[in-house]
Amino acid sequence: MDCFLLQGGRRLQGQVMASGSKNASLPILAASLLLDGAWQLQKVPRLRDVATMQDLLSALGVQSQWRAEAMEIQPQSSEPTEAPYDIVRRMRASICVLGPLLAKRGSARVSLPGGCVFGARPVDLHVRGLQALGAKIEQEGGDLVATVPPSGLRGVAIDLRSAYGSTVLGTINVMMAACLARGETVIGSAAREPEVVEVASFLRACGAKIEGAGEDRIHIEGGHALRPVSWALSADRMETGTLLLAGAITRGQVRVLGCRPQDLQSLQSMLLAVGCRLQVGTDWLEVDARDGSWSAVDVETGVYPGFPTDLQAQWMAFATQMEGRSRIVEKIYPERFMHVPELQRLGARLNRQGNQVQVQGPARLTAAPVLASDLRASACLVLAGLVARGTTCVRRVYHLDRGYVALEEKLSALGAKVVRQRDAQAP
Ligand code: EPU
Repeated sequence: MDCFLLQGGRRLQGQVMASGSKNASLPILAASLLLDGAWQLQKVPRLRDVATMQDLLSALGVQSQWRAEAMEIQPQSSEPTEAPYDIVRRMRASICVLGPLLAKRGSARVSLPGGCVFGARPVDLHVRGLQALGAKIEQEGGDLVATVPPSGLRGVAIDLRSAYGSTVLGTINVMMAACLARGETVIGSAAREPEVVEVASFLRACGAKIEGAGEDRIHIEGGHALRPVSWALSADRMETGTLLLAGAITRGQVRVLGCRPQDLQSLQSMLLAVGCRLQVGTDWLEVDARDGSWSAVDVETGVYPGFPTDLQAQWMAFATQMEGRSRIVEKIYPERFMHVPELQRLGARLNRQGNQVQVQGPARLTAAPVLASDLRASACLVLAGLVARGTTCVRRVYHLDRGYVALEEKLSALGAKVVRQRDAQAP
């Protein structure tokens, strides 16, 4: 197991290239189950989650190979329909194969992904949406066992509202299946995240008839033949946001190239509100925090275009350095606060109550060994380590490797002192 050693106190300066989007790549790779024939996905981030999706697709008869930053995808057998627990438990996004398997192969057995460290993560809306399309789905031995009636899936109007708003992968799963259903499907309360829009754009390029992606209501006219096309992924907005926050927290100046500023409006507004300066290009964003004094501002996460839950932990690290008290409210995953006790070990003054954390800043952070517990919590601890006095050891960075391409290299190129090494104390 690896850890990161970070020597805090260096201002980050310079420019860095964004990697391709993890959360768009996973469902787009799952969509290969809808396609006959080979195709290529470009700008694929080399991540552990992507490797897990490759393993899953391989178990389902689809082979994939790296060619530099592109992946060649080649279906070889359309027989398998079982997504085994051993793979699904490694990555919740594995549930994305359910819709395509059902629609294309007529049946599926997909292990239930289970919870994750930041709470229960149900898939009831995925199931409800696919059932509305006509699938029969039952639970058996921890698996979802799904079949399509002989007449096939048929389009329908479905509302996918969750208690917190909408569901990103649920919307995508149903949208993918609806492409091969007979007639029109209307998904109400659809997620509007850029990843939904990107999957829809990919499917449209393959021949699907989809309208309204990015809005509350998506129309899909099913039954059009899909043919594989090559696709280049857009930038990972959470990586971009994390790198900008690394620039901000270190009182630096960081420009992220090859990104999509329009996908990060809420972060831009928050950075401006606390007193950072921003420059925005067509495909780059730059934060300038060299003036270095920020006033605390409350933040609430929300569905897109709200402030992303996937940047909440990193923002909290930054908030520890602001003047005054701020409140961070988590509206998507009320338990997503595994980073709180670890930040406290570094000296952050935090008070959690339910789905809210009060942050009293500015705190003088001091290095300590800390434990990464999930992907974004790990990124938060890395940011805190960039400003903590002394050498912070962030353990279990394999979580980070699920979603950040060579983060230590990108941060080092910006002037951070961070090294990856084997954790001698890991069990
Ligand atoms: N929900 C339900 N029922 C469902 C599905 C979701 O109640 O059937 C609830 C969830 O419990 C949650 C809310 O709806 O409270 C939103 O969950 P959503 O389904 O939108 O999450 P997801 O699609 O499983 C994706 C990202 C997450 C990101 C969320 C929210 C991928 C692979 N994952 O998950 O990313 O936090 O959307 O934006 O796209 C990450 O990258 O670190 C990450 C966790």
